Amino acid sequence: MIDPFGRHITYLRVSVTDRCDFRCVYCMPEHMTFLPKADLLTLEELERVCAAFIRKGVDRIRLTGGEPLVRRNAMSLIENLGKRIGGGLKELTLTTNGSQLARFAWQLKDAGVERVNVSLDTRDPNRFRAITRWGDLNKVLAGIDAARGAGLKVKINTVALRGINDEEISDMMEWAHGEGMDLTLIETMPMGDIDADRVEQYMPLSLVRADLARKYTLTDSDYRTGGPARYVHVAETGGRLGFITPLTHNFCESCNRVRLTCTGMLYMCLGQNDDADLRKPLRASGGDELLDDAIDEAIARKPKGHDFIIDRRHDRPAVPRNMSLTGG
Ligand code: 5AD
Ligand code: SF4
Repeated sequence: MIDPFGRHITYLRVSVTDRCDFRCVYCMPEHMTFLPKADLLTLEELERVCAAFIRKGVDRIRLTGGEPLVRRNAMSLIENLGKRIGGGLKELTLTTNGSQLARFAWQLKDAGVERVNVSLDTRDPNRFRAITRWGDLNKVLAGIDAARGAGLKVKINTVALRGINDEEISDMMEWAHGEGMDLTLIETMPMGDIDADRVEQYMPLSLVRADLARKYTLTDSDYRTGGPARYVHVAETGGRLGFITPLTHNFCESCNRVRLTCTGMLYMCLGQNDDADLRKPLRASGGDELLDDAIDEAIARKPKGHDFIIDRRHDRPAVPRNMSLTGG
């Protein structure tokens, strides 16, 4: 699949559920309204859409959410997709908040998952509670241990939040690198209503980097994971530090991905509202022809780039849907 700007679309991110057992302050309001269950694609339907994308050349799939592992039977979807590794699919990965990893680590590994990204913004129990509202840090740390014990490679993703965890970022890095894990920092993106003030939370990574550069020797690296992160090598820790900077740096020119929601809407860009309904062709009688056509038609509409801006005057998110719907 090649889009109008010559970009090869080889990566699909799938939000398995919009639900989550946490309520991170930058992601959703405390009393989040989730989608009615009847609106969700079944796990079989999700698999059929994934299969269609694999037929069309997608070779990497990442399952996200919400928290993918809180959906009932999520493992059966993961196991079925895992069987396609080698047959078109090269890699199946997961972005998770880690809360269920202690339970599922071995099953993930057995299903063919080799890497997981765990979202962790702090290692301070009180701060963790303040950020996630509902989360239990010990469960997440135990989940990370279990994942590594099962032989999964773990990467830590940390959202930089001004005045909340910005002071702790070098500690997080020392810890992750000390454990042999990469750490990637992410800027908050203005997506969906939350209870808090996004402008206040927003911490430009250019500042974080400048701050770290006072203490550490950072060298730009060519290392890529196929995603938008740009990496530096940190001489003092010997580890890799990634920066995902949707607001300060535009990475759209090399975008290789599209995103499927758990209701079967395809978003061709995280930061745009244009979507394509795949549920209708999926549920139409007959084979996969209508679904295939709908995918082709959607890729032909992939926009050149996002325009995330924080609308300071109106404090309105640039994109009205929460990250948990489209998949982080
Ligand atoms: N901006 C940036 N990252 C976000 N995430 C959730 N909401 C946002 C947002 N508004 C991140 C989570 C996790 C992934 C699912 O998306 O921290 O890493
Ligand atoms: Fe859940 Fe992730 Fe959103 Fe936090 S950021 S509420 S863990 S989906």
